[in-house]
Amino acid sequence: MFDAASIELPAWARVSSSRRAHIARVTSLLVDWAHALGMSHGVCTAWRDAGLWHDALRDAPEAELREWAADGTLPVGLLHGPAAANRLAQDGEGRRDVLEAIRWHTIGSDAWDQTGRALYMADYLEPGRKFARADRAYLAAHVPLDFDGTFRQVVRHRLEWALREGHELYPTAVALWNSVR
Ligand SMILES: [Fe+2]
Repeated sequence: MFDAASIELPAWARVSSSRRAHIARVTSLLVDWAHALGMSHGVCTAWRDAGLWHDALRDAPEAELREWAADGTLPVGLLHGPAAANRLAQDGEGRRDVLEAIRWHTIGSDAWDQTGRALYMADYLEPGRKFARADRAYLAAHVPLDFDGTFRQVVRHRLEWALREGHELYPTAVALWNSVR
């Protein structure tokens, strides 16, 4: 539905061409789910915009990310969510669900409503990622049938991976798991 050539990103976006393609796939998944779930026009638009903008600063230099995220300690790979959310807010974006979805999409948050949860799933389940293709395709197809159950599976997958890789578990991610388990 969305493709890398036609998606419109903010003028300040910093994305490679492969990132652009990822953004298009994530957004397509979100809009497909919103329609399949019979969401209102407002929700469809929020999910679309969360997808379009979540990685808008993913390929920005670290100094720019730290400045926009106003953070001196997080690892660089975790800065693009807060940086994009703050920049969008400064541009006048006022939808809290969209901003919080983007802000926390890399780490996870237990304070999300469905917009944050949908983006977290779409970012992980989009078909361009090369690992666990069949499992992820199954989960993606299942979202319109069981949104909450699929979300729980995705949180579990993502935290299991983080543990296996020896990554730090952030408090909001642990709180997210405790809220859905
Ligand atoms: Fe992403």
